[in-house]
Amino acid sequence: MTEKHRLIIDCDTGTDDAVAIMLAALHPAIDLIGVTTVFGNAPLTATTINSLSVLDLIGRPEIPVHAGISRPIVRKAMPSERFFKTDTVADPHGTYLDIPRTTRQPASTKAVDYLIETYRAATQPITLMPIGPLTNIAAAVALEPRFAEWVPKLIIMGGGHEVPNMTASAEFNIWADPDGAASVFEAGFNDVLMVPLDATHRALVTDKQCAAIGALGTPAAKATETFVTRRINSYEAMQKMDIPNSAPVHDALCVAALVEPDIITTKRCHVAVETSGTLTLGRTVVDTHHRSHQEPNADVAFDANADRFVAMLMETFG
Ligand code: BDR
Ligand code: CA
Repeated sequence: MTEKHRLIIDCDTGTDDAVAIMLAALHPAIDLIGVTTVFGNAPLTATTINSLSVLDLIGRPEIPVHAGISRPIVRKAMPSERFFKTDTVADPHGTYLDIPRTTRQPASTKAVDYLIETYRAATQPITLMPIGPLTNIAAAVALEPRFAEWVPKLIIMGGGHEVPNMTASAEFNIWADPDGAASVFEAGFNDVLMVPLDATHRALVTDKQCAAIGALGTPAAKATETFVTRRINSYEAMQKMDIPNSAPVHDALCVAALVEPDIITTKRCHVAVETSGTLTLGRTVVDTHHRSHQEPNADVAFDANADRFVAMLMETFG
């Protein structure tokens, strides 16, 4: 049997983060060794509790959850309020996930220390997958100059070239901590895969597919139906997709791409993050035509195979 992909997920759990955690924890080709949390879709306390609750639900409480940073690395808060009211139908996540809430506490080591010490000690490759604001990763880079060198592969859910979702220019994870994100793209990581909205909006899950996943009847399948249904209702209310009654499940596409790289189509580009533009704050500037004359620093996904993605969810959660 080929070796499993060892993985650490850094997340702001969230409905799509929750599906990503379940896919990683249950996929036979992945060894999810740890989860670190950050503010984002909800305050840090909630994203941490949500991560623990998801692992309880699928019977994987031995996977450690380490709480991270509760605000952007430079700014005191996100650049502005989000455009929807928390915990309404427009909110694709809700503060707490709609599953039984954990009674467990996160591990005593904080996320950034855990990340640095795990990579310092690693004797085998461990992919790092940030699927929330990049604050913990930026802090690890700032604290330990060799951190970027130690991480063999970084898979980031974030950014958008033609597709934004937070402002007319920017995607949420990058916008939420633009300074942290800029420092991560500049840090010299060996192998960066960026999975932006351009790809995740090509892997929409429809209400019918969502019901078919739920009908598999396992805890992970039923929870996925709950989470994706919430997402579909929110997208129908706020941001209709090209396919009626469907929604992207952004973060889970990163997990799918780890085990099946062909599920996405990529182009090698230089990516920088705008940290000061009044209209463009948090934009990922993807140099698709080499106008900056800078060496590419990421593989950027522009397309995805929706059928394979849904099939992987069904195979894994069934
Ligand atoms: C990203 O932002 C969050 O709301 C989602 O969890 C995902 O990581 C998509 O823009
Ligand atoms: Ca997320």
